[in-house]
Amino acid sequence: MTQIDPNTSPWLASAYANDRAHVFHSWSAQGALDPVVIAGAKGSRMWDDKGNTWLDFSSQLVNVNIGHQHPKLVAAIQAQAARLCTIAPSVANDARSEAARLITELAPGDLDMVFFTNGGTDAVENAVRLARGHTGRHKVLSMYRSYHGATGTSIQLTGDPRRWGNEPGPANIVKFWGPYLYRSAFHATTEKEECERALQHLADVLMVEGPHTVAAIIMETVVGTNGILVPPDGYLKGVRELCTKHGIMMICDEVMAGFGRCGEWFAVNRWKVTPDLITFAKGSNSGYVPVGGVIIKRAIADSFKTRVFPGGLTYSGHPLACASIVASIGIFKEERIIANARHLGDDVIGPGLAKIAEKHPSVGEVRGLGVFWAIELVRDRRTREPLVPFNASGADAKPMGEVMAACKKNGVWPFAHFNRLQVTPPCTTSDDEIREGLAGIDRALEAADKYATG
Ligand SMILES: Cc1ncc(COP(=O)(O)O)c(C=O)c1O
Repeated sequence: MTQIDPNTSPWLASAYANDRAHVFHSWSAQGALDPVVIAGAKGSRMWDDKGNTWLDFSSQLVNVNIGHQHPKLVAAIQAQAARLCTIAPSVANDARSEAARLITELAPGDLDMVFFTNGGTDAVENAVRLARGHTGRHKVLSMYRSYHGATGTSIQLTGDPRRWGNEPGPANIVKFWGPYLYRSAFHATTEKEECERALQHLADVLMVEGPHTVAAIIMETVVGTNGILVPPDGYLKGVRELCTKHGIMMICDEVMAGFGRCGEWFAVNRWKVTPDLITFAKGSNSGYVPVGGVIIKRAIADSFKTRVFPGGLTYSGHPLACASIVASIGIFKEERIIANARHLGDDVIGPGLAKIAEKHPSVGEVRGLGVFWAIELVRDRRTREPLVPFNASGADAKPMGEVMAACKKNGVWPFAHFNRLQVTPPCTTSDDEIREGLAGIDRALEAADKYATG
């Protein structure tokens, strides 16, 4: 299927050369890059300037939850652009007010105020700022194996190697281990044990840090880039109880896990837990216009009724972004997209990956929910030695490079991170497209099997 329209862009022919000459990319050694030129995308497919097409099984950076170029979402942005492109954050605006109303209607408990940001990292910055301002405390606890963004505080909260190049960080951020049964930090052998021990560990960390010094505990409700780690039942509830006991704000970072990704509006809904603050971004409008935000419990917002909130952004509540959130929520409801995400996880992706796991000696574990899945690749199923070392690069990362190359050759583009392939297609993907993509991954895993010894 060649979908190139030579008239789409006058800049397409020179896109690669100008990228290499002038575009400085995220998280990269600039000289090592050889980016594909994406010419267009629709639904769950994207294509390059040479006529290659792929099923987008990464939803870009796990943000295109509604699929590419949804016509109603595009039309809503166009209509808002024709009406009012931009307006200062200090005035009221209909698109902003309606987006806030809709988001708080969906959010659990009394989380009924929204501070809009430009993306996920500044949502995290402001959630922490709100928690510190509300509690008058300074310390924040976050997990190893987490990602919270690339700016000042959020990169220090991040529990993965992206933090290393940004150290040293402040003393008032403390890390703890979260649950991850396949590679348990607690020598647990069951979900129940993992849950109990992870909670005891967190309680111990709080004890030695002094819970009265802790403003917030931040966690990804379901850890995303660092492995799609679904918490065992009872874990979030246990964290909630610890936070309540000590007057600590519970921040659930749902920048990746929210807005359909887990088959729920918010991942916390699955466990019926109400945090004090929720951060969102990506799936809220599928990234058609950059946006993010913090949903704030009433009592925290009230702390700033007479006291000035010490934060702000020129584009907080940008009309184009807010109109796209309003439209996206409407489309989610009309097209029952949350239900589709849940169906895909329960009936198509989960069973499909289980079959793949049976067949391939390189698959150590598959796990996930909704349209949020990981295939953890190993050299030896018994020892669980990862297919490539933690944070591998260069020659060490070659086996994963081979698997990804095989996937792309087979017309599917998942997300690769360390020793995992992550299967995170749009929530709107059809059953047949999922089967097609999984078949491509199935064949590609032969490239991993040749390294498997156990
Ligand atoms: C859980 C989580 N929090 C925060 C961020 C940062 O979001 P952004 O890249 O929009 O700043 C990300 C991005 O991947 C994320 O996955």
